[in-house]
Amino acid sequence: MKKITIAIDGFSSTGKSTLAKSLAKQLGYVYIDSGAMYRAVTLFAMRKKMIDKECFKKEDLINSLEQIELNFQYNAAKGFAEIYLNQENVEEVIRTLEVSKFVSQVAEVPEVRRKLVEQQQNFGKLKGVIMDGRDIGTVVFPDAELKIFMTASPEIRAERRFKELKEKNASVDYDEVFRNVIERDQIDTSRKDSPLIKAEDAIEIDNSDLSRVEQFDLIMKLVTERT
Ligand code: DC
Repeated sequence: MKKITIAIDGFSSTGKSTLAKSLAKQLGYVYIDSGAMYRAVTLFAMRKKMIDKECFKKEDLINSLEQIELNFQYNAAKGFAEIYLNQENVEEVIRTLEVSKFVSQVAEVPEVRRKLVEQQQNFGKLKGVIMDGRDIGTVVFPDAELKIFMTASPEIRAERRFKELKEKNASVDYDEVFRNVIERDQIDTSRKDSPLIKAEDAIEIDNSDLSRVEQFDLIMKLVTERT
């Protein structure tokens, strides 16, 4: 079977990564979570006190980009590749609501995007890659053989994210998660550099009322058609 590149874009908490992970497992593909890379850069900026509620020292971050090394290492027990920031496994710590609050501001910075897009394109040199994010079908892999654009209502997405955080025992309230979802949608879709938009040739899937199995089957059918 021919190996292809699969780009999955869409709004936050549409279940892109869960779906991409199970597709990668089934197909024997490499899965790359591009959002994790923006989150890891955000974590770096937070730890260096370059970003907090009051300020964002954008120039300091831009000048420090060379100090940021990101890698993915496959975790066989989990069945997917985890992200490392300067040799430290940060797969869990980048998922907090705190990081989510600042990540869209960091992802707006063109210099950050340029660095991460270059690395993402290098990952994609091998075929058999599934990458999820916001600009994968439009900017990172405009020639991907299969492009999916995932949407769901903001209420459903906030509910999913809330449950996920609760399961990790985070003390969160639904309204805060809902506000974060809306705010990130707003920043992600309106930023100047590579805004979240559906690529012309992407297939849109609204998964508000679809189960994970239904989504998986739908996309596997599309993959089979292209391979
Ligand atoms: O997929 P996620 O929610 O973990 O992504 C975190 C943030 O990173 C998201 O709010 C926007 C940004 N992002 C981006 O700008 N481009 C990507 N390719 C992936 C994520």
